[in-house]
Amino acid sequence: MNFPEKPLSSSVPSFPANFIWGAATASHQVEGGNYNNDVWLFEHVSGTQYVEPSVDAIDHYHRYREDIKLLADLGLGAYRFSLEWSRIEPEKGFFSKAAIEHYRRVLTACHTCGLIPIVTYHHFTSPTWLLKEGGWESENTPQLFARYCKYVTEELGDLFDYACTLNEANLAVLLTEYGFVEKTAAQRANNPMWQSVAKQLGISVEQVAGFQLSGTERAEQIKCEAHRAAFSAIKGVRPAIKVGWTLANADIQPVDGGEQYATDLRQRNNLRYLEVSKEDDFVGIQTYNRVQVGAEGMVGPQPGAELNQAGEEIWPWSIGNTIREAAQYGIPVLVTENGLNTHDDKQRVQFIKTAVSEVGKAIADGVEVLGYIYWSAFDNFEWIFGYDPHFGIIGVDRNSQERIIRPSARYLGEIARSNGAILK
Ligand code: BGC
Repeated sequence: MNFPEKPLSSSVPSFPANFIWGAATASHQVEGGNYNNDVWLFEHVSGTQYVEPSVDAIDHYHRYREDIKLLADLGLGAYRFSLEWSRIEPEKGFFSKAAIEHYRRVLTACHTCGLIPIVTYHHFTSPTWLLKEGGWESENTPQLFARYCKYVTEELGDLFDYACTLNEANLAVLLTEYGFVEKTAAQRANNPMWQSVAKQLGISVEQVAGFQLSGTERAEQIKCEAHRAAFSAIKGVRPAIKVGWTLANADIQPVDGGEQYATDLRQRNNLRYLEVSKEDDFVGIQTYNRVQVGAEGMVGPQPGAELNQAGEEIWPWSIGNTIREAAQYGIPVLVTENGLNTHDDKQRVQFIKTAVSEVGKAIADGVEVLGYIYWSAFDNFEWIFGYDPHFGIIGVDRNSQERIIRPSARYLGEIARSNGAILK
């Protein structure tokens, strides 16, 4: 096979003075005890594909103050986190003031520590009642999501300036390519996990439509509609909040006759969604490594490629490509996630160095990049893969919940303090 040459790392240009440096988490992956959402249900049914359940996660729901202070002490300037819809609206139409007060305290902790909060309204998990009503394939979902967004913005909107509506609205397209997700509702019927979920909810298996794991054309349309409805709802309450969504931007590279396949996949996975972002204030870019495709579809890492502990290729250069692709749509980009799953923190330091350098080069070429948010602030619950993957710049002892600051955390903090200067 002919694989493209690895780009050389070179020196780094400077970053704008107001560039945002941060790290991210998501409610279900860190809070613990989110028993009222669909993913908790998926974790516990018979036939589940989750290797272990989330249970207490990293107990961020109670430890957020110390966690936020840790990030600020490192030198970071922003914290991206998500609000848990199933806590805020535990039953359809009934909103929890206590949950709102919790997130008010989280937002206040960010301000007290000098961190810019970047709030995601939906990061993969939905209340179980939504799933029962048809989830992300129901035509009512965009309005229900917008109603929740409006409520949150009325209650908390004075405390943040950046909002992401949906996280990785297009992820299921990629997961379908990888063979993790069924393409049609009919195919779902053969999956024991969906069969059990359907039984528990009293709906048909074809109707089970979670966010992350529904890649049907209908689900894709509903997600786009939900984003536009949420954008209007948030802007309607607070026009000054900068609103966008985040995408799983794949750096699609053709090899060995894969040009046509790459063009088609780029259209389905990236461009279609970037088109929907055109009226937004920014688009959140989330890229982890490259996706190589041959004439028949995805191909694995080339022999001899540097791999992370999960056996995936380490390719930090991709972020520059996806930033440039998104920038063609004429809106600012914010790197809302970029990171490495590894138990070897030295690999993470190298990854951050190269990725941030690529961001800097894009800026030097005139691309408007608002910030770089590393995924993740802490090791956390990596969905179906459980707790073994380590994305965190801060590790967590699974028995004591003790936080362990890794060299990569200090390194990213130094980059942030010097606004990229130490990369030179
Ligand atoms: C998601 C995160 C996830 C990360 C690493 C992104 O798809 O937004 O929730 O943990 O990638 O896989």
